[in-house]
Formats: sequence, structure tokens, C-alpha cells
Amino acid sequence: MNLEDTHLDVLMKAQKAQGMTDRDLVKLAEISVPDLNNLRAGRREPTAIEKMARVLGLRPDSVIALANGTWNAPAVALPPNVLQFTTPFADLTVNHYLVWDPKTRLAVAFDAGTNADPLFAALERHKLTLAKILLTHAHGDHVLELDRIIERTKAVGFTPEAEPLPGCKPVEDGQRFKVGGLHITAHSVPGHSTGGTVYEIRGLETPIASVGDVIFAGSVGSIRSRYRPALDDIRQKVLSLPPETILLPGHGPMTTVAHELAHNPFFP
Ligand SMILES: [Fe+2]
Repeated sequence: MNLEDTHLDVLMKAQKAQGMTDRDLVKLAEISVPDLNNLRAGRREPTAIEKMARVLGLRPDSVIALANGTWNAPAVALPPNVLQFTTPFADLTVNHYLVWDPKTRLAVAFDAGTNADPLFAALERHKLTLAKILLTHAHGDHVLELDRIIERTKAVGFTPEAEPLPGCKPVEDGQRFKVGGLHITAHSVPGHSTGGTVYEIRGLETPIASVGDVIFAGSVGSIRSRYRPALDDIRQKVLSLPPETILLPGHGPMTTVAHELAHNPFFP
């Protein structure tokens, strides 16, 4: 699976979230307007990238690696009893996940995606009962199939309290869920969305976390408010999880806490 963001996406996300104009950027980074134009037109321009990354508070070597095509997501082997579904959304895709307790066969869905048929097939194939649907946030691509999943499975839907949805219960920061042998803790990380929530999941061979659009392999979901505090929250609530924790993002490939701590351009 391709990375969600290119080096240009990363630079633009950091610039936009900090409210910096192109004029400011050119001045502060001490680059020329042609440098900026060439870079935006797809030329590599490593010196300009390095200067811009510094001004934007990004990790320069990671942005250059993204530009060179040498930034790779780690090879992540999903632990047993976890499935990833990637469903289409316009010309992009969105990921949602199914996690279950092998003893009780009780399952939890993380987000609802845009086509629940593969989820329904997996529930049948593995003889699972869907107990809960935990939403990372309420953006359209993550909740399109929510009503159909609830109707068909009678599972209880939960949405971050700051992003209410009809028919769903609210989730608070720090709230815990126990589903069979699975222990799930909700961590509120607003920024990409007002209630963006990360679910830390214990009880499988490897700790995992459903992170929605809070963090991606090599990037973050566009941060629309409180840029610095949002990055601090990601550091404190996500990148502080055990390094081997597998991160299950809403877009792009899976990754780990260790990999993002070492290479994510937003966390120098
Ligand atoms: Fe989103």
C-alpha cells in the first residue's frame, strides 16, 4: 500500500496548519520563489526542502527521504485476530479494522469504512459476534457504512463525545472497554478533528492501536486546529505507547510506534 502523503503533502500540511503564507515561507527559509515553484512542480530540490522543513519544524532528512522515495513503512505482520479492510473513497481509500477475542469470539470494529461487505464476510467466516463499533472520528469516509453495520449486527456504536452521531453512544477521553479478553482504552487527540480518538488495544500477542487520521505512516492527518498542542498530544498519547505497538491508521499502510518515533517528519 502506498504512503498516504508525499513530501509535498507533508510540507503543505505543516505550512497550512501554521498559517504561513508562501511569502513568509520563502523569506524565513531563505529560498527563492523559483526554488519554491520548482519544488511544487515536482522537482526534488533537496536544499530547498531541507530549509523549508527546518522553518516548518519538520524532520528534514525524513522529508528528503519522502521526496527520494526511500521512506518506507515497516513490514508489519498483523497479529492473529486482527483484520484490515481497505475500501474506496472517491479516488482514495480508507481503512477500517476488525479485532476479536479468540475465546469468546466477540469482535470490535474500528471505524465503518465505505463498504462493510468484507467485514460482514469476515464475521461469518470467523464465526464472530460484533459487540461494538468504536469510531476514531466522524468524518464521512470513516462512517459511511455505520448504519448498515449497526442494523445488521445490532452492535453498539460509540463516537467521540465531541463528534456526536445519531444512534451512537459518546466516548470520553480515558474511557475503557472490555470485550472478552480485549482491553481497550480511548485517548482523545483533537487536531485533525474536534474529537479525534485513538484506541489502545491490549490482550493480543502484540499491542495495537487504532489511530484513525491522527497519525499516518510518514505523516499525520491534516491538523485543522491547535497545531502544536495536537502534535504534543500525539507524542504524549500515541508515541508513548510501547515501541512495538502496531498503529492501524485510517489511510495508508500500517506502521509502529518505534518507526514513527524514528522517522515521522512531524516529530523531529
Ligand atoms: Fe478524517
